[in-house]
Amino acid sequence: MKDLIKVRDLELDCIREYFSKTIENRWEDFDEEWKAKLGASGRGSFQLYLESGLSFVAEEDGEIMGFIFAQMLHHVYNVENLVWIENMGVHPYFRRSGIGYRMLRKVAETGADMGATVVHSAIQPDNLPSIMLHKKLGFFMDRREVALLDLNDLKRGPKSV
Ligand SMILES: CC(C)(COP(=O)(O)OP(=O)(O)OC[C@H]1O[C@@H](n2cnc3c(N)ncnc32)[C@H](O)[C@@H]1OP(=O)(O)O)[C@@H](O)C(=O)NCCC(=O)NCCS
Repeated sequence: MKDLIKVRDLELDCIREYFSKTIENRWEDFDEEWKAKLGASGRGSFQLYLESGLSFVAEEDGEIMGFIFAQMLHHVYNVENLVWIENMGVHPYFRRSGIGYRMLRKVAETGADMGATVVHSAIQPDNLPSIMLHKKLGFFMDRREVALLDLNDLKRGPKSV
């Protein structure tokens, strides 16, 4: 809990970095309410990830260098206990020094100790550093794609259907 403010800043910086490469809108133009919910440290998510026992920070001399947010899911993809990694990031200054790898391994090891048999991680297909990092630990990417339905857009049919 004491890390919340610093972790929040770092996660938002990482999200902002990603947006600046992929989306033309200026960060300042996005709605503040919407931004407050972004990420695993966002409003409504942080408590869950805090209590999962699968979220960690990399810290030195009180500085937060990296974060990883994960939780255990049950009976997904026919797997009883599955670790779901929602987001991770390392401060740009500390990248390529093994922090991401150590955090990822920590989540995998802790998940195994908690009874998980598999780890799934949310990776954007154009995020080469993240793909290479996961591969280094032994992750593989299959061609599985997930179809999404935004339930805010759900057109509800007549009640009898
Ligand atoms: C992806 C990220 C977390 C990696 O963290 P990191 O601490 O720099 O990674 P590590 O130093 O532990 O690197 C481990 C391995 O990952 C791969 N890797 C990491 N960054 C890489 C890069 N820029 N290019 C190619 N491979 C890379 C390498 O195989 C590396 O091993 P090596 O250094 O022995 O070659 C970091 O780049 C980051 O925070 N990016 C922005 C946020 C983000 O994209 N998060 C991922 C969301 S899933």
